[in-house]
Amino acid sequence: MALRRSVLTLISTRKTSLRLSAIKNFSAQSEPQEEEKRKTHFGFEIVNEDEKTKKVHQVFETVADKYDLMNDVMSLGVHRVWKDIFMMRLAPTPGTKLLDMAGGTGDITFRYMNYLKNKGSLSADKPCSVTVCDINQHMLDVGKVRAERQGYTKDTSVDIDWLCADAENLPLPDDSYSAYTIAFGIRNCTHIDKVLEEAYRVLQPGGRFLCLEFSQLPNSTMQWMYDQYSFQMIPVMGQLIAGQWKPYKYLVESIRQFPDQEKFKAMIEEAGFRQVTYENLTFGVCAIHSGFKI
Ligand SMILES: C[S@@+](CC[C@H](N)C(=O)[O-])C[C@H]1O[C@@H](n2cnc3c(N)ncnc32)[C@H](O)[C@@H]1O
Repeated sequence: MALRRSVLTLISTRKTSLRLSAIKNFSAQSEPQEEEKRKTHFGFEIVNEDEKTKKVHQVFETVADKYDLMNDVMSLGVHRVWKDIFMMRLAPTPGTKLLDMAGGTGDITFRYMNYLKNKGSLSADKPCSVTVCDINQHMLDVGKVRAERQGYTKDTSVDIDWLCADAENLPLPDDSYSAYTIAFGIRNCTHIDKVLEEAYRVLQPGGRFLCLEFSQLPNSTMQWMYDQYSFQMIPVMGQLIAGQWKPYKYLVESIRQFPDQEKFKAMIEEAGFRQVTYENLTFGVCAIHSGFKI
C-alpha cells in the first residue's frame, strides 16, 4: 500500500513538473514573439515601440524652432511646391471640414486657407473650419505664432482648432471630417495601420484621405544619387544650421524605412479606403496617396 502511494505520488509529481516545464517552454517560446511584436524602427535603430514614440517626440521638440527654415534649406525650397501640389489635389471648397493630422507648424493648414482665399471662398459669411492636430505641443505653438503673423485669427472668418493628440488614438467623434490630410507625418508614427484606421473612423462617408510622404525612387541610379545627397549632406546641414545632427540623421533613415508606393497603397486599402491611387512627385522622392471612405 505504502509502495503504491509512493508510486502514485511520484507519477503525480512527474506530471506536475512536466506540465510546469510545458508552461515554461510555452512562455519561453511566446516571450520572444511578444518582444518581437513590440519592437520597431527608429530610423535604422531597432527600438521598443514606446521608445520610438518618445524618441520621435524628442526629435520634433528639438527641431521645432528651426523646422521651417530647415525644410527650405534641405529641400532647396521644393517642399513648398510639393505642398502646393498637394493642396491643389485636395482642391477644398468652403464646405470642406479639414483635419490636418501631424500638422506641425501649420504648412498644410495655411495652404488650405490660402487656397480658399485665392478662390474668393473665404469671407465672414463663408467661414472655414480646420483642426490642426499634432502630438507635439511645441510644433503647434510655433504654428499658432505663424497663424497670428499671417492674420489668421478667430475674428477673420477662419476657425483653426489646435489639438495636441496622437494620430493613433484620436479624441474625435466618428464621421466628423470631410477631409483628412497628413503631410510628412505618417512615417513618424509607430503603428501606421492604427493611424489609417483612425483616419477612416473620423472621416465622414465620402470623405477623402490624402497623404504626402517621402517615398522610393523607382530608378536605382537616381536612388543612389539621392541617397548620397541625403545621407552625406542633410545631417551636416542640420549640424551647421540648427546645431543638431541626430534628428536629421533620423529624418533620412526614416525615409528609407517607410514602405514604398505600392506597399503603402495596399495598407491604405487594408484600412478600408477605396479608389486608392498615388502620384509620384520629383520622380518618386515624394508621393501623394489618395483614398475615399465610401
Ligand atoms: C515632418 S513634421 C510635418 C509637419 C507638417 N505636416 C509639414 O508638412 O510641415 C512631422 C510631424 O508629425 C508629428 N507626429 C509624429 N508622430 C505623431 C503622432 N503619432 N500623432 C500626431 N502627430 C505626430 C510630429 O510631432 C511633427 O510635427
